[in-house]
Amino acid sequence: MTDIAAIVLAAGKGTRMKSGLVKVLHPIAGRPMIDWPLEAARAAGALPIVMIVGHQADEVRKRFEGQPDIRCALQAEQLGTGHAVACAAEALGGFSGTALILCGDTPLLRSATLSKLLAFHRSQAASVTVLTACMDNPHGYGRVVRDGEGRVLRIVEQKDATPEEQAVREINSGIYCMESDFLFANIGSLGNSNAQNEFYLTDLVAMAAEQGASCLAMAIDDCDEIMGVNDRAQLAEAARILRRRINRELMLSGVSLVDPDHSYIDQGVVIGPDTVIHPNCSITGRTIIGNGCLIESGVSISGCRMGDGCHIKAGSVLEDSELFNSVSVGPMAHLRPGNVLKDRVKIGNFVETKKIVMGEGSKASHLTYLGDAEIGRDVNIGCGTITCNYDGVNKHRTVIGDNVFIGSDVQLVAPVTVGQNALVAAGTTVTRDVPAEALAISRVPQVNKERWWRRKKK
Ligand code: UD1
Ligand code: CA
Repeated sequence: MTDIAAIVLAAGKGTRMKSGLVKVLHPIAGRPMIDWPLEAARAAGALPIVMIVGHQADEVRKRFEGQPDIRCALQAEQLGTGHAVACAAEALGGFSGTALILCGDTPLLRSATLSKLLAFHRSQAASVTVLTACMDNPHGYGRVVRDGEGRVLRIVEQKDATPEEQAVREINSGIYCMESDFLFANIGSLGNSNAQNEFYLTDLVAMAAEQGASCLAMAIDDCDEIMGVNDRAQLAEAARILRRRINRELMLSGVSLVDPDHSYIDQGVVIGPDTVIHPNCSITGRTIIGNGCLIESGVSISGCRMGDGCHIKAGSVLEDSELFNSVSVGPMAHLRPGNVLKDRVKIGNFVETKKIVMGEGSKASHLTYLGDAEIGRDVNIGCGTITCNYDGVNKHRTVIGDNVFIGSDVQLVAPVTVGQNALVAAGTTVTRDVPAEALAISRVPQVNKERWWRRKKK
């Protein structure tokens, strides 16, 4: 425990999302919305972090299993933000210090802003400090009401505001620093006689002002940061802003994005310098891409690790695979999960692979399915080759040694092994192992029926 704790409100359903999934679990730039404010609180040094859960509490809780700095507290009925914070008391134990209060639906908040808010709050020895912003369109937010001297008097919700109050452009972000003794001495006294019959956390501001406790507001310039996501249009807007941040950081670290407005890269993806990424690529999960790679347009990469100098051609889909250096894939190839492609492997157009290991310099250039296969180095897989790995019940392995040449249109009926330096002739169906250095050929002898065309015409 430190002298900073965080309370994150995440019990609401998110009615305006019109979704079967609770709002805070909607993904944004590759992570559930709730992860973003949480990471900001963590980075600002809050410990413990109490998460107020309610709707789909078990699903939200599951997200934080194995994260010992997070404690979940149940708000069984959503009676308002003030009631939600009151539910944190037990989980906070005997915490004494500054409580950071955050909403689960503000994914754009930066930890630097929280640190600034904390520093300001402490330097002024305030009881309550509200993070505010001036907005051109404040509709929907609570407004900050000040007196003639600029002192904060109270916060009034949109639905309770008079036309005069509605004209105020300074809004409540829903993010606060509160001293724990003030907070817990007063939270039990909140009432719910307002337009929504809810216990408003914001009423603590008026209480502080009335008690003569110091209640301050710190305004931020970047309104984006405190944007609350209430519906899917705002979700898309927040995702766009996060993408911009992620892409900008990548570009400053040496990655070329041909069109950063159309590059969809998750937070946490690592990309080396001099890699060039063309438009409309989506790069997600725990992907790591090396230096000097070229990713052409319309490529989707998830959960892959890629070395240096790889070339992924247009329209390819790569899932959970490992590519060493100078590997080339596509156009329009599909790497399903579990492949290991060593240096200089070439996977060409309309090739699908699944759970294969392919050795250095091996190639499958066209129209091929390779599944559950172990392929040596410098192997050539001809056009139209198929590993017949599935007998309807079980999957079987194909093993191909170094320097093997597989001709076009070959079926390898697994389990089967082709020894090194062997050659499998075009059109062969391999049903038995091929010894090293042998030629395997299985073809129905060809019959030519002379003058067939003339007979057909009669
Ligand atoms: C709240 C503020 C408003 C502020 C705005 C900023 C109040 C009364 N109003 O309004 O001044 O401008 O945020 O975005 O605080 N929640 C619970 N339990 C509840 C109710 C809410 O956990 O009983 C959670 C929600 O899941 C959400 C957060 O609290 O994460 C905010 O609730 P929401 O209903 O979105 O409040 P706003 O109407 O946006
Ligand atoms: Ca909200």
